[in-house]
Amino acid sequence: MILVTGGAGFIGANFVLNWLASQSEPVVNVDKLTYAGNLNNLASLKGDSRHIFVHADIGDSDTISALLAQHKPRAILHFAAESHVDRSIHGPAAFIETNVNGTFRLLEATRAYWQSLDAEAKQSFRFLHVSTDEVYGSLEADDPPFSETTAYAPNSPYSASKAASDHLVRAYHHTYGMPTLTTNCSNNYGPYHFPEKLIPLVITNARAGKDLPIYGDGSQVRDWLFVSDHCAAIRRVLENGRVGETYNVGGWNEKTNLNVVHTICDLLDELKPKSAGSYRDQIRFVKDRPGHDKRYAIDARKLERELGWKPAETFETGLRKTVEWYLANDVWTDQVLSGEYKNWVELQYQS
Ligand code: NAD
Ligand code: DAU
Repeated sequence: MILVTGGAGFIGANFVLNWLASQSEPVVNVDKLTYAGNLNNLASLKGDSRHIFVHADIGDSDTISALLAQHKPRAILHFAAESHVDRSIHGPAAFIETNVNGTFRLLEATRAYWQSLDAEAKQSFRFLHVSTDEVYGSLEADDPPFSETTAYAPNSPYSASKAASDHLVRAYHHTYGMPTLTTNCSNNYGPYHFPEKLIPLVITNARAGKDLPIYGDGSQVRDWLFVSDHCAAIRRVLENGRVGETYNVGGWNEKTNLNVVHTICDLLDELKPKSAGSYRDQIRFVKDRPGHDKRYAIDARKLERELGWKPAETFETGLRKTVEWYLANDVWTDQVLSGEYKNWVELQYQS
């Protein structure tokens, strides 16, 4: 079996759902259930004995070691993290705790487990670290996209904490020979995306008749990838990636934030028209994110060349599927838009 951390979050849950839809190998899913973890994302797995959910912190070494000894996974896929840049600006401590210290403790527990395996299991074991393109910093308009050899230059507490975790993973391979793999991916979007991030925030606010906040002038560029394409890339790297290597994952879909928001509004105008006017009327330009990275773009040619991976969705097909999913899943959204989420919106958009 495999062990996944953070499998109740956006990408982790999509990964677990896709995995169990396409193969029989069981998944142990370790998640702390922070504000971003949501068991409703995994509701369709209720009663499925191949999914073993464990409510635990990756930094709880005793629990993680006991789980590894009990389940003997052939691989660990490490998704768990604090993931929202704006939250890292308001409160970086949680990012250091989980992304740096938590990853360190997980690596230590994994190292002890891995060293206890017999020679064959030791050789085939993999630790796959799921990371971000934000570790590379920000590009100017005419810079080439980030490649695996681009120097790290993280700009936010979030990206700095992810960069630190990447370096730890690298060091565990280099020093101890642990069979690690690292993926650095661009912006994901799709079902189960927590509505503090741009795309789900805009969809849910638009439907609720609220403002659609665009930071600064909306000219910043992100490279968008549909989440199931990211999951497919991770599966490909797990099975065939070269040990110790890093692979960049991206959608070749560079868009300005303003363009993204306009496209969502146009899709909603088509699929769920308002009684009068366009959803574009709800757009508001608000104060910019401090240290806002201008542009991310990924060169994913290594992954294509070595492992034959390419995204299946274009931005147009993926975004349409995403908007349709949110329109069909009001109950999921209503459950998420309560409690702690309300406090966050107050802090971020009303101050
Ligand atoms: P998310 O915030 O939606 O989910 C994170 C999950 O991790 C949640 O279920 C949360 O409960 C869990 N978690 C947090 N701290 C934990 C801890 N200490 N112990 C156990 N579980 C813990 O994040 P996401 O968007 O799904 O991102 C998943 C991973 O992918 C992260 O490592 C992130 O850096 C990386 N990534 C995300 C994107 C993106 O666009 N969302 C792009 C590239 C890489
Ligand atoms: O690039 C990969 C990263 O993408 C991941 O590592 C992160 O976990 C993930 O959160 C995402 O980070 P971003 O900061 O790029 O995503 P976010 O959705 O927060 O913002 C996307 C862009 O939209 C960014 O330029 C900021 C802008 N934005 C965001 C919000 C929430 C707005 O203009 N208005 C908003 O209200």
